[in-house]
Amino acid sequence: MTVNRAQSGPKQPKPATGYPPRDFKFLAMNFAVRLMPTGWKYWGNSILLKTSIGDSGPISVPEPYSWTWAGPEEIKLLDRHPEATSPTAYARRAARGDRCLCIKQGSEVVGYRWFKLGTGCILCGFGPDMEITLFPLKPGQAFSYDLFIYRKYRGQGVATLLNNLLYHVLREEDIKEVLALVSPANHAALRLNLRLGAQPQRLVYTYRIRGWSKVFLGPEGDRRLIEWVQQFKPS
Ligand SMILES: CC(C)(COP(=O)(O)OP(=O)(O)OC[C@H]1O[C@@H](n2cnc3c(N)ncnc32)[C@H](O)[C@@H]1OP(=O)(O)O)[C@@H](O)C(=O)NCCC(=O)NCCS
Repeated sequence: MTVNRAQSGPKQPKPATGYPPRDFKFLAMNFAVRLMPTGWKYWGNSILLKTSIGDSGPISVPEPYSWTWAGPEEIKLLDRHPEATSPTAYARRAARGDRCLCIKQGSEVVGYRWFKLGTGCILCGFGPDMEITLFPLKPGQAFSYDLFIYRKYRGQGVATLLNNLLYHVLREEDIKEVLALVSPANHAALRLNLRLGAQPQRLVYTYRIRGWSKVFLGPEGDRRLIEWVQQFKPS
């Protein structure tokens, strides 16, 4: 049986896949950096998201979870965890005043998210030869990074709870907007952030080659980016 357009209904927009359209000059730069025989290097393209954190009232943390700010005990747990993504960086972050909200179950950390004031960062806390400092933040803004839920706890709403809790706590500290970078390839994180009200701002291109680093900001209100992101309908 053949089905024509009239029978199959209006054409649906294609779901967003892969990456949003990026400027050719940065794609060329990514390629050049990739090929450079310089030893350690980093390049990344991220979407800058902004979440306005309105007043949602108090948040209750359901059993069996609890929450805490990461102190020396939690930092040790994060460092020693087999899924640790940033060992040694955690302590550096805490030492300079970045804060980390942890969801715990008993004495075990289930997931966490870091944030800082002042400026954004990439490879946050990885040391001066690796960390890339981004744009300065405005008063009332916080930069949130390194959201991580350990594997066995994913898909159960822990990240949703953690973020709602973080926004609630930040609101109490007069923070109105949370900025975060998400890789366009990280669909799980992108969907989560959009579901929590994040709005795409612009693409951010970051490069580091040994001691040199550079941040390029894509256009603000990038129409192609906004159209691409709109296809991620929060569930
Ligand atoms: C991305 C990440 C933080 C999501 O954490 P998570 O705890 O699985 O997220 P949640 O459970 O809150 O939400 C994920 C999905 O589970 C669903 N979910 C929420 N509560 C649920 C429940 N009780 N039962 C089943 N599913 C549920 C959500 O609807 C959501 O689905 P959707 O994304 O299709 O809309 C996690 O996968 C992770 O740590 N990844 C690695 C690190 C990373 O990528 N971090 C982000 C860097 S920007």
